[in-house]
Amino acid sequence: MLGHMKNAGPRVMLFRSLALMGLLVFACGGTPRAEPGGDWRDEYRRPQSIPYPASNPFTPEKADLGRTLFFDPGLSASNTVSCASCHKPEHGWSDGLVHSRGDGPTPMLFHSPTLLDIAWLDRLGWEGKFRDIEAVTFTPITSPAGMNMPEEKLLARLAADPAYVEMFARAFPGKPINRRAVELAIATFERSITSKTAPFDRWIAGDKSAMPEAAKRGFALFSGKAHCTECHSGWAFTDGSFHDIGVAKEAEAGRGQFFPNSLKLQHAFKTPTLRNDADRGPFMHDGSSATLAQVIEFYDKGGVDRPSRAEVIKPLGLNPSEKADLLAFLRALTDD
Ligand code: HEC
Ligand code: HEC
Repeated sequence: MLGHMKNAGPRVMLFRSLALMGLLVFACGGTPRAEPGGDWRDEYRRPQSIPYPASNPFTPEKADLGRTLFFDPGLSASNTVSCASCHKPEHGWSDGLVHSRGDGPTPMLFHSPTLLDIAWLDRLGWEGKFRDIEAVTFTPITSPAGMNMPEEKLLARLAADPAYVEMFARAFPGKPINRRAVELAIATFERSITSKTAPFDRWIAGDKSAMPEAAKRGFALFSGKAHCTECHSGWAFTDGSFHDIGVAKEAEAGRGQFFPNSLKLQHAFKTPTLRNDADRGPFMHDGSSATLAQVIEFYDKGGVDRPSRAEVIKPLGLNPSEKADLLAFLRALTDD
Protein backbone atom coordinates (compact mmCIF):
# COMPACT_ATOMS: atom_id res chain seq x y z
CA MET A 1 0.00 0.00 0.00
CA LEU A 2 2.11 2.79 -1.33
CA GLY A 3 -0.25 5.51 -0.18
CA HIS A 4 -0.01 4.27 3.38
CA MET A 5 3.69 3.61 3.55
CA LYS A 6 4.33 7.13 2.33
CA ASN A 7 2.36 8.56 5.21
CA ALA A 8 4.86 7.20 7.68
CA GLY A 9 7.89 9.24 6.61
CA PRO A 10 6.91 12.84 7.36
CA ARG A 11 5.07 11.85 10.53
CA VAL A 12 8.14 10.08 11.87
CA MET A 13 10.19 13.15 10.96
CA LEU A 14 7.74 15.39 12.76
CA PHE A 15 7.87 13.29 15.89
CA ARG A 16 11.64 13.29 15.72
CA SER A 17 11.77 17.06 15.50
CA LEU A 18 9.17 17.44 18.25
CA ALA A 19 11.27 15.14 20.43
CA LEU A 20 14.35 17.20 19.68
CA MET A 21 12.49 20.42 20.47
CA GLY A 22 11.51 18.82 23.76
CA LEU A 23 15.18 18.15 24.46
CA LEU A 24 16.09 21.73 23.60
CA VAL A 25 13.36 23.08 25.86
CA PHE A 26 14.68 20.83 28.60
CA ALA A 27 18.27 21.94 27.98
CA CYS A 28 17.27 25.61 28.08
CA GLY A 29 15.67 25.16 31.48
CA GLY A 30 12.12 24.86 30.20
CA THR A 31 11.96 28.05 28.14
CA PRO A 32 10.31 27.24 24.79
CA ARG A 33 12.37 28.41 21.83
CA ALA A 34 10.67 31.24 19.97
CA GLU A 35 13.07 31.14 17.02
CA PRO A 36 13.94 28.10 14.93
CA GLY A 37 17.36 26.51 15.21
CA GLY A 38 19.35 23.38 14.28
CA ASP A 39 17.01 20.59 13.32
CA TRP A 40 14.19 22.94 12.39
CA ARG A 41 16.32 24.62 9.76
CA ASP A 42 17.34 21.28 8.26
CA GLU A 43 13.72 20.27 7.90
CA TYR A 44 12.87 23.42 5.94
CA ARG A 45 16.11 23.93 4.02
CA ARG A 46 15.47 24.38 0.32
CA PRO A 47 17.28 21.85 -1.89
CA GLN A 48 20.33 23.12 -3.75
CA SER A 49 19.57 21.46 -7.06
CA ILE A 50 16.71 20.03 -9.10
CA PRO A 51 16.51 16.20 -9.11
CA TYR A 52 16.56 15.42 -12.84
CA PRO A 53 16.21 11.62 -13.20
CA ALA A 54 18.93 9.49 -14.83
CA SER A 55 16.33 8.48 -17.44
CA ASN A 56 15.96 12.12 -18.51
CA PRO A 57 18.98 14.21 -17.53
CA PHE A 58 18.96 17.98 -18.00
CA THR A 59 20.27 19.50 -21.21
CA PRO A 60 19.64 23.15 -22.18
CA GLU A 61 18.55 22.03 -25.67
CA LYS A 62 15.82 19.77 -24.24
CA ALA A 63 14.67 22.46 -21.82
CA ASP A 64 14.46 25.05 -24.63
CA LEU A 65 12.48 22.70 -26.84
CA GLY A 66 10.24 21.79 -23.88
CA ARG A 67 9.56 25.46 -23.11
CA THR A 68 8.63 26.16 -26.75
CA LEU A 69 6.27 23.16 -26.84
CA PHE A 70 4.73 24.10 -23.47
CA PHE A 71 3.71 27.57 -24.66
CA ASP A 72 2.66 26.53 -28.18
CA PRO A 73 -1.12 26.49 -28.89
CA GLY A 74 -0.22 24.53 -32.05
CA LEU A 75 -0.23 21.44 -29.80
CA SER A 76 -4.05 21.63 -29.73
CA ALA A 77 -6.47 20.71 -32.51
CA SER A 78 -7.94 24.23 -32.65
CA ASN A 79 -4.56 25.97 -32.43
CA THR A 80 -5.80 27.91 -29.40
CA VAL A 81 -4.90 25.90 -26.27
CA SER A 82 -1.38 25.43 -24.94
CA CYS A 83 -0.22 23.80 -21.71
CA ALA A 84 0.15 27.35 -20.42
CA SER A 85 -3.57 28.02 -20.98
CA CYS A 86 -4.27 26.00 -17.84
CA HIS A 87 -0.84 26.30 -16.18
CA LYS A 88 -0.27 30.05 -16.43
CA PRO A 89 3.07 31.32 -15.09
CA GLU A 90 1.39 34.57 -14.03
CA HIS A 91 -1.22 32.66 -12.04
CA GLY A 92 1.13 30.47 -10.03
CA TRP A 93 1.15 27.92 -12.93
CA SER A 94 -2.57 27.26 -12.41
CA ASP A 95 -5.45 28.98 -14.21
CA GLY A 96 -7.81 30.67 -11.77
CA LEU A 97 -10.77 28.54 -12.82
CA VAL A 98 -12.76 26.12 -10.67
CA HIS A 99 -12.57 23.54 -13.47
CA SER A 100 -10.10 24.11 -16.29
CA ARG A 101 -11.41 24.51 -19.82
CA GLY A 102 -9.59 23.31 -22.90
CA ASP A 103 -10.48 22.74 -26.51
CA GLY A 104 -13.69 20.84 -25.94
CA PRO A 105 -17.17 21.89 -24.80
CA THR A 106 -16.87 20.08 -21.44
CA PRO A 107 -14.68 21.36 -18.62
CA MET A 108 -11.89 19.20 -17.17
CA LEU A 109 -12.77 16.96 -14.24
CA PHE A 110 -10.47 18.81 -11.83
CA HIS A 111 -9.09 22.22 -11.01
CA SER A 112 -5.66 22.62 -12.62
CA PRO A 113 -2.86 22.09 -10.09
CA THR A 114 0.25 24.26 -9.97
CA LEU A 115 3.39 22.93 -11.66
CA LEU A 116 5.70 24.54 -9.09
CA ASP A 117 8.26 22.15 -7.59
CA ILE A 118 6.74 19.06 -9.24
CA ALA A 119 10.30 17.77 -9.85
CA TRP A 120 10.17 16.54 -6.24
CA LEU A 121 6.86 14.67 -6.49
CA ASP A 122 6.79 10.87 -6.72
CA ARG A 123 3.31 10.69 -8.13
CA LEU A 124 1.45 13.22 -10.22
CA GLY A 125 -2.20 14.13 -10.60
CA TRP A 126 -4.73 14.82 -7.84
CA GLU A 127 -5.37 11.07 -7.53
CA GLY A 128 -1.76 10.04 -8.14
CA LYS A 129 -2.55 8.25 -11.39
CA PHE A 130 0.70 9.31 -13.16
CA ARG A 131 3.97 7.63 -12.20
CA ASP A 132 6.17 10.50 -13.39
CA ILE A 133 6.06 13.87 -15.14
CA GLU A 134 6.78 12.37 -18.55
CA ALA A 135 3.74 10.11 -18.20
CA VAL A 136 1.36 13.08 -17.81
CA THR A 137 2.19 14.78 -21.13
CA PHE A 138 -0.03 13.04 -23.66
CA THR A 139 -3.08 12.86 -21.41
CA PRO A 140 -3.92 16.58 -21.71
CA ILE A 141 -2.72 16.65 -25.34
CA THR A 142 -5.05 13.88 -26.55
CA SER A 143 -7.95 14.40 -24.13
CA PRO A 144 -11.02 15.90 -25.91
CA ALA A 145 -11.56 18.22 -22.93
CA GLY A 146 -7.88 19.20 -23.01
CA MET A 147 -6.06 19.88 -26.27
CA ASN A 148 -7.99 17.36 -28.34
CA MET A 149 -4.97 16.49 -30.48
CA PRO A 150 -4.36 12.92 -31.70
CA GLU A 151 -0.76 11.79 -31.22
CA GLU A 152 -0.08 11.06 -34.93
CA LYS A 153 -1.48 14.40 -35.99
CA LEU A 154 0.71 16.25 -33.49
CA LEU A 155 3.86 14.38 -34.55
CA ALA A 156 3.07 15.12 -38.21
CA ARG A 157 2.57 18.82 -37.42
CA LEU A 158 5.91 19.01 -35.62
CA ALA A 159 7.77 17.14 -38.37
CA ALA A 160 6.39 19.58 -40.95
CA ASP A 161 7.69 22.63 -39.09
CA PRO A 162 11.33 23.44 -39.98
CA ALA A 163 11.90 25.33 -36.71
CA TYR A 164 10.81 22.29 -34.69
CA VAL A 165 12.81 19.92 -36.89
CA GLU A 166 15.91 21.94 -36.02
CA MET A 167 15.13 22.14 -32.29
CA PHE A 168 14.44 18.39 -32.05
CA ALA A 169 17.68 17.67 -33.93
CA ARG A 170 19.62 19.77 -31.41
CA ALA A 171 17.88 18.22 -28.38
CA PHE A 172 17.93 14.62 -29.68
CA PRO A 173 20.71 14.33 -32.29
CA GLY A 174 20.11 11.52 -34.76
CA LYS A 175 16.74 10.57 -33.20
CA PRO A 176 13.27 10.76 -34.78
CA ILE A 177 10.58 13.19 -33.65
CA ASN A 178 8.38 10.84 -31.66
CA ARG A 179 6.12 10.71 -28.62
CA ARG A 180 9.00 9.93 -26.24
CA ALA A 181 11.04 12.93 -27.40
CA VAL A 182 8.06 15.24 -26.81
CA GLU A 183 7.59 13.77 -23.31
CA LEU A 184 11.27 14.07 -22.40
CA ALA A 185 11.57 17.66 -23.60
CA ILE A 186 8.39 19.00 -21.96
CA ALA A 187 9.21 17.20 -18.68
CA THR A 188 12.72 18.72 -18.64
CA PHE A 189 11.19 22.18 -18.91
CA GLU A 190 8.57 21.37 -16.24
CA ARG A 191 11.22 20.23 -13.73
CA SER A 192 12.80 23.66 -14.06
CA ILE A 193 9.60 25.32 -12.75
CA THR A 194 10.54 25.92 -9.14
CA SER A 195 9.52 28.25 -6.36
CA LYS A 196 12.09 30.79 -5.19
CA THR A 197 13.13 32.10 -1.79
CA ALA A 198 10.17 33.47 0.23
CA PRO A 199 10.09 35.56 3.44
CA PHE A 200 9.64 32.30 5.37
CA ASP A 201 12.97 30.98 4.00
CA ARG A 202 14.82 34.11 5.03
CA TRP A 203 13.30 33.84 8.51
CA ILE A 204 14.26 30.16 8.78
CA ALA A 205 17.78 31.13 7.71
CA GLY A 206 17.98 33.49 10.69
CA ASP A 207 16.70 36.88 9.48
CA LYS A 208 14.34 37.69 12.37
CA SER A 209 12.71 40.60 10.54
CA ALA A 210 11.97 38.66 7.34
CA MET A 211 8.41 37.71 8.40
CA PRO A 212 5.87 39.88 10.24
CA GLU A 213 5.04 38.85 13.84
CA ALA A 214 1.60 37.65 12.72
CA ALA A 215 3.23 35.18 10.31
CA LYS A 216 5.52 33.88 13.08
CA ARG A 217 2.49 33.28 15.30
CA GLY A 218 0.82 31.71 12.27
CA PHE A 219 3.74 29.29 11.80
CA ALA A 220 3.49 28.28 15.48
CA LEU A 221 -0.20 27.46 14.92
CA PHE A 222 0.53 25.77 11.59
CA SER A 223 3.09 23.43 13.15
CA GLY A 224 1.27 23.16 16.50
CA LYS A 225 -2.39 23.44 17.41
CA ALA A 226 -3.66 23.33 13.81
CA HIS A 227 -1.61 20.20 12.88
CA CYS A 228 -1.04 21.42 9.33
CA THR A 229 2.53 20.02 9.20
CA GLU A 230 1.16 16.49 9.56
CA CYS A 231 0.63 16.68 5.79
CA HIS A 232 2.10 19.99 4.60
CA SER A 233 5.58 19.02 5.74
CA GLY A 234 9.12 19.96 4.73
CA TRP A 235 10.40 22.82 2.56
CA ALA A 236 7.76 22.31 -0.16
CA PHE A 237 4.97 22.01 2.42
CA THR A 238 3.72 18.69 1.10
CA ASP A 239 4.25 15.06 2.06
CA GLY A 240 3.48 14.13 -1.57
CA SER A 241 0.85 11.78 -0.19
CA PHE A 242 -2.95 11.46 -0.32
CA HIS A 243 -5.53 12.20 2.35
CA ASP A 244 -9.25 12.66 2.80
CA ILE A 245 -9.57 16.04 4.47
CA GLY A 246 -13.34 16.07 4.03
CA VAL A 247 -13.45 18.07 0.78
CA ALA A 248 -14.40 15.41 -1.77
CA LYS A 249 -17.99 14.49 -2.59
CA GLU A 250 -19.16 10.99 -1.62
CA ALA A 251 -19.04 9.92 -5.29
CA GLU A 252 -15.36 10.91 -5.65
CA ALA A 253 -13.13 7.95 -4.76
CA GLY A 254 -9.89 9.87 -5.35
CA ARG A 255 -6.79 7.77 -4.66
CA GLY A 256 -9.17 5.13 -3.25
CA GLN A 257 -10.12 3.99 -6.78
CA PHE A 258 -6.68 2.32 -7.01
CA PHE A 259 -6.82 0.98 -3.43
CA PRO A 260 -10.42 -0.13 -2.91
CA ASN A 261 -9.52 -1.93 0.34
CA SER A 262 -7.83 1.02 2.02
CA LEU A 263 -10.33 2.92 4.13
CA LYS A 264 -8.07 5.96 4.56
CA LEU A 265 -7.48 6.39 0.82
CA GLN A 266 -11.19 6.71 0.00
CA HIS A 267 -11.90 10.33 -1.06
CA ALA A 268 -8.15 11.01 -0.69
CA PHE A 269 -6.47 13.60 -2.89
CA LYS A 270 -2.89 14.76 -3.16
CA THR A 271 -1.52 17.22 -0.60
CA PRO A 272 -0.67 20.31 -2.67
CA THR A 273 2.40 22.42 -2.06
CA LEU A 274 1.53 25.66 -0.25
CA ARG A 275 4.38 27.62 -1.86
CA ASN A 276 3.09 30.70 -3.72
CA ASP A 277 -0.51 29.78 -2.87
CA ALA A 278 -1.29 33.49 -2.52
CA ASP A 279 -0.70 33.78 -6.31
CA ARG A 280 -3.34 31.26 -7.25
CA GLY A 281 -6.76 30.13 -6.27
CA PRO A 282 -9.34 28.80 -6.30
CA PHE A 283 -8.00 25.97 -4.14
CA MET A 284 -8.46 22.19 -3.71
CA HIS A 285 -8.88 19.54 -6.43
CA ASP A 286 -12.38 20.81 -7.14
CA GLY A 287 -11.67 24.51 -6.73
CA SER A 288 -14.17 24.54 -3.87
CA SER A 289 -12.39 27.21 -1.78
CA ALA A 290 -12.17 30.55 -3.58
CA THR A 291 -9.65 32.19 -1.25
CA LEU A 292 -7.05 31.25 1.35
CA ALA A 293 -9.31 32.78 4.01
CA GLN A 294 -11.99 30.29 2.92
CA VAL A 295 -9.48 27.43 3.17
CA ILE A 296 -8.78 28.43 6.76
CA GLU A 297 -12.53 28.59 7.52
CA PHE A 298 -12.80 25.12 5.99
CA TYR A 299 -10.09 23.67 8.27
CA ASP A 300 -11.57 25.45 11.27
CA LYS A 301 -14.83 23.53 10.68
CA GLY A 302 -13.06 20.30 9.71
CA GLY A 303 -14.83 19.18 6.50
CA VAL A 304 -17.12 16.18 6.03
CA ASP A 305 -16.89 13.82 9.00
CA ARG A 306 -16.59 10.24 7.69
CA PRO A 307 -14.50 7.13 8.43
CA SER A 308 -11.94 7.90 5.71
CA ARG A 309 -11.25 11.44 6.94
CA ALA A 310 -7.76 11.89 8.44
CA GLU A 311 -7.86 11.83 12.27
CA VAL A 312 -6.10 15.21 12.58
CA ILE A 313 -8.83 16.93 10.59
CA LYS A 314 -11.42 18.07 13.13
CA PRO A 315 -12.91 21.37 14.26
CA LEU A 316 -10.01 23.55 15.43
CA GLY A 317 -11.81 26.31 17.34
CA LEU A 318 -9.59 29.09 15.99
CA ASN A 319 -10.45 32.66 17.01
CA PRO A 320 -10.39 35.48 14.44
CA SER A 321 -6.87 36.64 15.32
CA GLU A 322 -5.52 33.07 15.02
CA LYS A 323 -7.14 32.79 11.59
CA ALA A 324 -5.51 36.08 10.57
CA ASP A 325 -2.13 34.79 11.83
CA LEU A 326 -2.43 31.56 9.82
CA LEU A 327 -3.27 33.61 6.74
CA ALA A 328 -0.24 35.87 7.32
CA PHE A 329 1.95 32.76 7.52
CA LEU A 330 0.55 31.30 4.27
CA ARG A 331 1.25 34.64 2.57
CA ALA A 332 4.87 34.51 3.78
CA LEU A 333 5.36 31.41 1.60
CA THR A 334 5.15 33.48 -1.59
CA ASP A 335 8.47 34.27 -3.26
CA ASP A 336 9.33 37.76 -4.41
C1 HEC B 1 -7.48 22.35 -20.29
C2 HEC B 1 -6.59 22.57 -19.18
C3 HEC B 1 -5.23 21.88 -19.16
C4 HEC B 1 -4.31 21.85 -20.17
C5 HEC B 1 -4.42 22.41 -21.58
C6 HEC B 1 -3.16 21.16 -19.62
N1 HEC B 1 -3.38 20.81 -18.33
FE1 HEC B 1 -2.06 19.93 -17.08
N2 HEC B 1 -3.52 19.64 -15.74
C7 HEC B 1 -4.82 20.10 -15.85
C8 HEC B 1 -5.64 19.50 -14.82
C9 HEC B 1 -7.12 19.73 -14.60
C10 HEC B 1 -4.79 18.63 -14.10
C11 HEC B 1 -5.17 17.68 -12.98
C12 HEC B 1 -5.39 16.32 -13.61
C13 HEC B 1 -5.54 15.19 -12.63
O1 HEC B 1 -5.22 15.37 -11.46
O2 HEC B 1 -5.93 14.09 -13.04
C14 HEC B 1 -3.46 18.78 -14.68
C15 HEC B 1 -2.34 18.13 -14.19
C16 HEC B 1 -1.07 18.28 -14.73
C17 HEC B 1 0.14 17.76 -14.14
C18 HEC B 1 0.26 17.07 -12.79
C19 HEC B 1 0.64 18.10 -11.74
C20 HEC B 1 0.62 17.61 -10.32
O3 HEC B 1 0.90 18.39 -9.41
O4 HEC B 1 0.32 16.44 -10.07
C21 HEC B 1 1.16 18.06 -15.01
C22 HEC B 1 2.63 17.72 -14.84
C23 HEC B 1 0.56 18.75 -16.13
N3 HEC B 1 -0.79 18.89 -15.93
C24 HEC B 1 1.26 19.15 -17.25
C25 HEC B 1 0.64 19.63 -18.40
C26 HEC B 1 1.30 19.75 -19.69
C27 HEC B 1 2.76 19.42 -19.97
C28 HEC B 1 0.38 20.22 -20.56
C29 HEC B 1 0.54 20.46 -22.04
C30 HEC B 1 0.98 19.32 -22.81
C31 HEC B 1 -0.86 20.39 -19.81
N4 HEC B 1 -0.66 20.02 -18.52
C32 HEC B 1 -2.02 20.90 -20.36
C33 HEC B 1 -5.27 21.00 -16.79
C34 HEC B 1 -4.65 21.21 -18.01
C1 HEC C 1 -4.46 15.21 6.82
C2 HEC C 1 -3.58 15.99 5.95
C3 HEC C 1 -3.73 17.49 5.93
C4 HEC C 1 -3.72 18.36 6.98
C5 HEC C 1 -3.59 18.06 8.46
C6 HEC C 1 -3.85 19.68 6.40
N1 HEC C 1 -3.93 19.60 5.05
FE1 HEC C 1 -4.14 21.16 3.77
N2 HEC C 1 -4.46 19.85 2.24
C7 HEC C 1 -4.37 18.48 2.34
C8 HEC C 1 -4.89 17.89 1.13
C9 HEC C 1 -4.96 16.40 0.84
C10 HEC C 1 -5.33 18.95 0.33
C11 HEC C 1 -6.03 18.82 -1.03
C12 HEC C 1 -7.45 18.31 -0.75
C13 HEC C 1 -8.34 18.24 -1.97
O1 HEC C 1 -8.10 18.90 -2.96
O2 HEC C 1 -9.33 17.48 -1.89
C14 HEC C 1 -5.02 20.18 1.06
C15 HEC C 1 -5.23 21.45 0.58
C16 HEC C 1 -4.82 22.62 1.21
C17 HEC C 1 -4.78 23.94 0.61
C18 HEC C 1 -5.13 24.27 -0.82
C19 HEC C 1 -3.87 24.32 -1.63
C20 HEC C 1 -4.07 24.42 -3.12
O3 HEC C 1 -3.12 24.89 -3.79
O4 HEC C 1 -5.13 24.02 -3.62
C21 HEC C 1 -4.32 24.82 1.57
C22 HEC C 1 -4.09 26.30 1.42
C23 HEC C 1 -4.09 24.04 2.76
N3 HEC C 1 -4.39 22.72 2.51
C24 HEC C 1 -3.66 24.54 3.97
C25 HEC C 1 -3.68 23.82 5.16
C26 HEC C 1 -3.61 24.40 6.48
C27 HEC C 1 -3.49 25.89 6.77
C28 HEC C 1 -3.72 23.37 7.37
C29 HEC C 1 -3.80 23.43 8.88
C30 HEC C 1 -4.95 24.19 9.38
C31 HEC C 1 -3.83 22.14 6.60
N4 HEC C 1 -3.81 22.46 5.26
C32 HEC C 1 -3.91 20.86 7.14
C33 HEC C 1 -3.89 17.76 3.43
C34 HEC C 1 -3.85 18.28 4.71
